[in-house]
Amino acid sequence: MTGTLVGPSRYPTACVGERTLLTVDFDKITSLAKRRGFVFQGSEIYGGLNGAWDFGPLGVEFLNNVKRAWWRSMTQLRDDVVGLDAAILMAPEVWRASGHVETFTDPLVACRQCKMRFRADQLDGDGSSRCPNCGGELTEPRQFDLMFKTFVGPVEADAATVYLRPETAQGIFVNFQNVQKATRRRLPFGIAQIGKTFRNEISPGNFFFRSREFEQMECEYFVSPTGAEDAYRAWIAERHHWYLDLGLKPENLRLREHQRDELSHYSAGTTDVEFRFPWGWGELEGIANRTDFDLRRHSEFSSKDLSYADEVTGERYIPYVIEPSAGATRSMLAFLCDAYDEAEVNGETRAFLRLHQSLAPYKAAVLPLSKKEPLVAVAHEIERALRPHFMITYDETQSIGKRYARQDEIGTPYCVTVDFDSLEDRAVTVRERDSMAQQRLPIADLIPALKEKLEVVSS
Ligand code: GAP
Repeated sequence: MTGTLVGPSRYPTACVGERTLLTVDFDKITSLAKRRGFVFQGSEIYGGLNGAWDFGPLGVEFLNNVKRAWWRSMTQLRDDVVGLDAAILMAPEVWRASGHVETFTDPLVACRQCKMRFRADQLDGDGSSRCPNCGGELTEPRQFDLMFKTFVGPVEADAATVYLRPETAQGIFVNFQNVQKATRRRLPFGIAQIGKTFRNEISPGNFFFRSREFEQMECEYFVSPTGAEDAYRAWIAERHHWYLDLGLKPENLRLREHQRDELSHYSAGTTDVEFRFPWGWGELEGIANRTDFDLRRHSEFSSKDLSYADEVTGERYIPYVIEPSAGATRSMLAFLCDAYDEAEVNGETRAFLRLHQSLAPYKAAVLPLSKKEPLVAVAHEIERALRPHFMITYDETQSIGKRYARQDEIGTPYCVTVDFDSLEDRAVTVRERDSMAQQRLPIADLIPALKEKLEVVSS
């Protein structure tokens, strides 16, 4: 690769002056997310549907990149995990076997005065039982079913009731034997799935941290009972690293092991990966040792033998399951919050999204210094050449400084500036988002140079 580093300020606004880190404000993150088309309130023109969010042009790229990074780490980089995409609607017996019909509830209290509803376990435990909104008297807690119901076929009867899945995991358990036989896998092996999940949360909130419709990235790792503890510990370490490798700051990430009285009905041990959101620590992912609970229950309820016979050792057992279960949309929110930064450039406070380049919606922006021909023709030629290789954007409006600022605040790692010299020397200036360093590169070398800089992964 050829190219020369040129001074830090070939074009205005680049890397001039001291950068001052300012305190991050969550309102700024949410307003940037809306203004730049990452996330919109669902059904906004009708007043919005609480707990539903629409991912705009930049948001869908960002979210797809989060999911792609997870899928790659699970199914491409490991030889012991395969993928699955199961139906959202499942036989209702699934949710009886899993325990959801019986136990997937939250304690709900309502204010007798303002009628607002709250999760009893999320209210301050001062014993006053007063409404946090208006101070009114609260009702006694009642168990509220978190599963959305609908009907299959034309008759709205109990017998036709099905649920929108409240986790993707059950689609994996019911397919354990299908996948194991089809792929002739020996244990231990895992099945990974990404998909939409629905929970009728009592109090959705904190932007899209707690939504009623969201996406999960779950892996069920089937293992012998004796191998479960080691696999559990290995997955905790592996999943912790995944977030760090994608750039989350170590000080914003922690592991928290559940106390005995916190464990779900199926779990012999759970550790959460938590992120320090602007309002405090919140769960990104749970890694659980689900024992043989799931396959045992599905064996019982379906009357199918889901035990596994190890041909090498001659053992037969119901597999244990280690489950790393992450939120895709929630992880995206963590990456967004962690990447948000402000810096002073030329006396002006500017927003930056310092996203890991594999998560950034656009990898590069092509910016002609002027809107006039013949510069624009060369810029379009470069844009067309880059498009098949990278997610690219093109911008020719306003000053180059404003355009750099627009790319910085959506996290674009590289800007490719086409200037009047480009017409003569067939070279362009590549500016890096975080250092603002600029490098002059021949147009002919641009694709390999960007590939090298971006460490583009083929998947
Ligand atoms: N199969 C296990 C399971 O579903 P969970 O802790 O209930 O476990 C796993 O969910 C992950 O799904 C959470 O760590 C979180 O990232 C995400 N998640 C759960 N509820 C959510 C919600 N209402 N909105 C957004 N993400 C959610």
